[in-house]
Amino acid sequence: MENLITKLREGRLQPGAGIVFGTHRPNTAVRTSFDIDALTKDYQVGTKASGEPYRYIIKTYGCQMNEHDTETMAGLLQAMGYRPAKEDAEADFILFNTCAVRENAEDKVFGEIGRLRPLKTRNPELVLGLCGCMAQEKGVQKMVLEKFPWVDVVFGTHNIHRLPQLLTNARHSQETILEVWDKAAETVEDIPKARKDHIRAWVNVQYGCNKFCTYCIVPYTRGAERSRLPEDILQEVQQLAADGVKEITLLGQNVNDYGVDLGSVTFAKLLRQVNDVDGIERIRFTTSNPWNFTDELIQALADCDKVVEHIHLPVQSGNNQILKRMNRSHTREFYLELVNKIRTAIPGVSLTTDIIVGFPGETEEQFLDTLRLVEEVQFDNAFTFIYSPRENTPAAKFPDDVPLSEKKARLQRLNEVQYAISLAKNQALAGQVVDVLVEGESKTNPDVLAGRTRTNKLVLFQGDVGLTGQTVSVRIEQPKTWTLMGTLVERPEGVLA
Ligand code: 5AD
Ligand code: SF4
Repeated sequence: MENLITKLREGRLQPGAGIVFGTHRPNTAVRTSFDIDALTKDYQVGTKASGEPYRYIIKTYGCQMNEHDTETMAGLLQAMGYRPAKEDAEADFILFNTCAVRENAEDKVFGEIGRLRPLKTRNPELVLGLCGCMAQEKGVQKMVLEKFPWVDVVFGTHNIHRLPQLLTNARHSQETILEVWDKAAETVEDIPKARKDHIRAWVNVQYGCNKFCTYCIVPYTRGAERSRLPEDILQEVQQLAADGVKEITLLGQNVNDYGVDLGSVTFAKLLRQVNDVDGIERIRFTTSNPWNFTDELIQALADCDKVVEHIHLPVQSGNNQILKRMNRSHTREFYLELVNKIRTAIPGVSLTTDIIVGFPGETEEQFLDTLRLVEEVQFDNAFTFIYSPRENTPAAKFPDDVPLSEKKARLQRLNEVQYAISLAKNQALAGQVVDVLVEGESKTNPDVLAGRTRTNKLVLFQGDVGLTGQTVSVRIEQPKTWTLMGTLVERPEGVLA
């Protein structure tokens, strides 16, 4: 290790000598189609000398984008001949797919990497890897090289398709392999995914973010906005429908910016095209930005029968000064008016949001504006966070005189208000019969089935596991804050009781 750091410091380390450090890639090509065989043909070394397959585990942190990247990487590993491991001790490759949005997610990863160190002694073939948003941070790269030298490979969010080569290099290298491109060279297409779920599937429509909210690290870790071509998206959705998938979630950091870089298509137009794909029953999308949530989009949501009545619409704060310092491009009034427009066009729509408390310098009065907005909008649910300073973002330099204890107290006050609203909203559903897409046995209680309403509420009820993948009717009996307990009222045709 001393070797590596010394070489890095002295500039003696050449890219291509096993290590590529922070290489800059121009953002030129919009789309590159990769043949899985071309990506993996030289690296189909997924078998050990004993003939046993190598086993992998990917530990995923953060958002749905990361969850989906994990499915892509699992697809690449499986094409190499790797097979999933049931537990850490059985794995020959453990990969951390990380999140950089808040500091506590980063701390957890470093804790886990430390905990896994002894496994390297027990299994000399074990390769440890770190990828995802943390890998894009220069500070993290340095920290791994200096303090966690038992990590064998680090690669960035734009280097995912290079996993087969990097992993193979790491198996044969004594030093940490580091390959992090600052920018995306292309939108990588056609990598088969090892999807976890066969009923619901994620589909990327757009990568990156151009919004530069002052607290957020995402524009730096995920790069500039790039949209996938509509024909590629449609082809993927058609294939998913043919495979029996019932629900898709269109993914992007700002889905309503979809197509801006392509010119000829908007997210509204894309939704209409996806809505026409036979076999798909539900279309979700996340995340939207209030700023460019256009009337054209609202009309498309109202018109498309498969697009569900649920919109995740992060507001972040209810105070205009804070919103301005967050560089959010919307005001409190703009947001409230948008909510009205959406509720008029889509009756019964469920709205969820993200809120940050304790932004640098947030006063009690400014926080009260957020509480008042929450009371006024009556969100179905809110994801609430204490502001976490992120390296090299503008807000990290803003003066902050609010003590952590006060920030924690604000989070608690906000949560109490929101929990009461969530419960009241759910209680209003008591006695109603709702459509539930059955996901299978509940993860927490195998005696009941779990599924979701179109409005994304989790429903638990007793029924035959054979109903998985079907849409059934459930009467809501016992609504709680997070779940709705109900009873099945009707079985779909052809399914025996
Ligand atoms: N601190 C706290 N929360 C943050 N988020 C993004 N960056 C930060 C940060 N630095 C929250 C926002 C965003 C969600 C995904 O994470 O609310 O919408
Ligand atoms: Fe971050 Fe703002 Fe982009 Fe969302 S819109 S990813 S909060 S910069």
